[in-house]
Amino acid sequence: MDQSHIRNFSIIAHIDHGKSTLADRILELTDTVEKREMKAQILDSMDLEQERGITIKLNAVQLTYTALNGEEYLFHLIDTPGHVDFSYEVSRSLAACEGAVLVVDAAQGVEAQTLANVYLALDNDLEIVPVINKIDLPSAQPDVVKKEIEDIIGLDCSNAPMISAKSGLNVRDVLEAIVAMVPPPKGDVHAPLQALVFDSLYDPYRGVIAFVSIKQGSVAVGDRIRFMASHAEYEVLEVGIRNPKEVKKDVLRCGEVGWITAAIKDISDVHVGDTITNAASPADQALPGYRRMNPMVYCGLYPIDNAKYNDLRDALEKLKLNDASLQFEPETSQALGFGFRCGFLGLLHMDVIQERIEREYNINLIATSPSVIYHVYLTDGTMIQVDNPAFLPEPQKTDHIEEPYVRAQIMVPNDFVGAVMELCQKKRGIYQDMQVIDDNRMNILYEMPLGEIIFDFFDRLKSCTKGYASLDYELSEYKESNLVKMDILLNGEIVDALSIIVHRDFAYHRGNQMTQKLKDLIPKHQFEIPVQAAIGGKIIARTNIKSLRKNVLAKCYGGDISRKKKLLEKQKEGKKRMKSVGSVEIPQEAFMAVLSMD
Ligand code: GTP
Repeated sequence: MDQSHIRNFSIIAHIDHGKSTLADRILELTDTVEKREMKAQILDSMDLEQERGITIKLNAVQLTYTALNGEEYLFHLIDTPGHVDFSYEVSRSLAACEGAVLVVDAAQGVEAQTLANVYLALDNDLEIVPVINKIDLPSAQPDVVKKEIEDIIGLDCSNAPMISAKSGLNVRDVLEAIVAMVPPPKGDVHAPLQALVFDSLYDPYRGVIAFVSIKQGSVAVGDRIRFMASHAEYEVLEVGIRNPKEVKKDVLRCGEVGWITAAIKDISDVHVGDTITNAASPADQALPGYRRMNPMVYCGLYPIDNAKYNDLRDALEKLKLNDASLQFEPETSQALGFGFRCGFLGLLHMDVIQERIEREYNINLIATSPSVIYHVYLTDGTMIQVDNPAFLPEPQKTDHIEEPYVRAQIMVPNDFVGAVMELCQKKRGIYQDMQVIDDNRMNILYEMPLGEIIFDFFDRLKSCTKGYASLDYELSEYKESNLVKMDILLNGEIVDALSIIVHRDFAYHRGNQMTQKLKDLIPKHQFEIPVQAAIGGKIIARTNIKSLRKNVLAKCYGGDISRKKKLLEKQKEGKKRMKSVGSVEIPQEAFMAVLSMD
């Protein structure tokens, strides 16, 4: 198809404003997916996405649209996640597009991630097509929201389509707006190949599948290609697009978004953000890649079965291919043995990776308490970075510790301003500013320790504002704090994987909470287990887990053998996510106890 008839766009929005639903309607309207194959949120292809009702991975599909002017257009639609943990996926998709459809919920209006995503789109010089969604809702105020977009973002909304992605009302207007407003891709099809790798995936049969946006030139089956960063060369075996099923093609041309396979078995040859060119007539320069994302939270992942250590490494390497923001390196814990220290963009990201490893690679894991990176200044003048509380140097050797702060922006209805400020204050927030958005809403700005915000801040924010607040944050700087390491002792032994770093003022409170929580989470054993919290060898809190009195099998004495077996089976099930540390069995939940404390 003529390049002037190609349109590449992303759909961006605050979480739950209806991106995936709009994508479904667009696929239907363009007859891309047959009716009988259609299901809700079809682009959320991972089981995990369907179950949780959220988008985690970006997804690119090709569709053809016959516009009202009678001409046919080739669209590439890239669906993106809305949660702040996955903004890295958003920024990558945007680099593959010329336009972005901005979906705003007519009942909710502009929210924190609406703004954050608009800024990302503007950074990528994208044309933004505003769309007001959910106008079928009784609480919808499309005109108010239009004005809000004009006032806050400065986008002209006079012709913005007003739609219901749910019922399909006016969705065609969105497609027409894309044709009219989004510019076609610019590159020259006759120039040397430049294909931006924006995602990749490992397929056990075909090797690495690289998802690419062709910025210049073309690539065909049989071509010899070169990855410009890794210098690896391969012969192309297959190229194609997705609609969303895979469709093979002979060639991908400038402006198209598709995939390439070349029997690539060495995962390290492919990096998201790299440029693929033609080995025989290479491009002079690689395309600008992506800004590297630095993880915000770290935790240790340990296989429950130590024999699965190598499988875990393999799984992490393959997942990294599909999720470039994941980082990991080997680590050992006295309590848990060999595992990996992994870096994530947030807790949801951590949760998703952990679940993917368990589901897709069948490895049962224990994850340790999450931590941020601390800058520890030693008395000899050097600074070290610590992402694992167990490795915090002794207080005598430490001059001072700095922790990462974020700039948080919270949009909230006026009635909840007091509650939000109280919460921020409690989380050691430093008040910065407050701006009026409109008659009903305020934008509150705080600087807060990342260590406080990533844990359960978001849930608390939602509950103290009845779900009305929206949050966005970005890293600001490191600031000095009075932090100490709190160790947990079970049966008199320090369990390194349970150590956390806390602010000294909160230490006693947290120590108490943590020991109580562990008491509830760790099952009773045949003996009594003292649970203690200590700072620098000094015990600050203590409780006991009483010993077991009853034998689970006692009841079955003389009873039916199958019942006995069942009981033992059940016990085994329960043990699946437990790790023996010394003589104590610790369940997974115990390592996450720190997340649900005040
Ligand atoms: P993430 O993928 O998690 O970022 O969310 P999303 O923006 O893709 O939102 P999604 O499409 O999953 O929609 C969120 C919820 O809003 C779902 O329950 C949809 O059924 C509902 N929804 C979407 N569009 C409309 C609409 O036009 N009207 C009404 N009433 N509900 C809608």
